[in-house]
Amino acid sequence: MQSETDKQMDPAALLAWQVAMGADEAVGDSPADRFALSEKAKPAARPAIQERPVAQAAPVAQTSGESAILAQKAAAACRSLDELRTAVEVFDGCSLKRTATNTVFADGNPDAPLMFIGEAPGADEDRIGKPFVGASGQLLDRMMAAVGWRRDQDYYISNILPWRPPGNRKPTPVETAMCLPFIVRHIALKKPKLLVFLGGTAAGALLDTTLGITRLRGRWMNYQLSAEETMPAMPTYHPAFLLRQPALKGDAWRDILEIKSRLERANQV
Ligand code: URA
Repeated sequence: MQSETDKQMDPAALLAWQVAMGADEAVGDSPADRFALSEKAKPAARPAIQERPVAQAAPVAQTSGESAILAQKAAAACRSLDELRTAVEVFDGCSLKRTATNTVFADGNPDAPLMFIGEAPGADEDRIGKPFVGASGQLLDRMMAAVGWRRDQDYYISNILPWRPPGNRKPTPVETAMCLPFIVRHIALKKPKLLVFLGGTAAGALLDTTLGITRLRGRWMNYQLSAEETMPAMPTYHPAFLLRQPALKGDAWRDILEIKSRLERANQV
């Protein structure tokens, strides 16, 4: 009979645990001895004369509140989507960045009138560096193709979080609040005609509501762009949710037809 320790050391169980923690990609063919590596990495004897630092270090936040303020300042300073992309890429205040492979900024046509906003990159998006390239992104593209829209022409996509939460867990409220200034500025710079929030996380964060997606979906809301300006926004089901609940695809289809018809009306004025 296997003891409890044997069960814990079972290679399959260890692997499953690593995958659950977010380590879902092998990076080498053979295991690395981290203890030997850290011995090698120890600094050599300190030189007699200390070198002076050549550059001023970037401000480093000590708390998540400070990080959110730094994110807010960095985002507000951006005047274009390219500047914003760089600001997100160099931002070090969110710990999710340390476990992510890539910063996932956006995909699609930046001049398209329609902007989708999802939750956060998954494993495929983290590996490739673009949003919605995995199974849920493929479903989204198929649904859009059914109304004649293509990602490279007709829509633009980003996420609330630019870094993958380990193991695809739900982002915490602190992580969401910290990254929010970037997506808010993203929307302001992109200025789409219509916004579509994919799933409850995006809708909740950007509409500042705790109502669930089932209550919110299919309804036009006003997204507050600035003190004076709003923009029409519709929450709908996240395609990953539709993959698990295919019976709800009919509702999602009705939402897409409504979005299409509103966009056609907007294009006529
Ligand atoms: N789910 C999301 O919310 N965003 C992605 O980019 C991929 C999956």
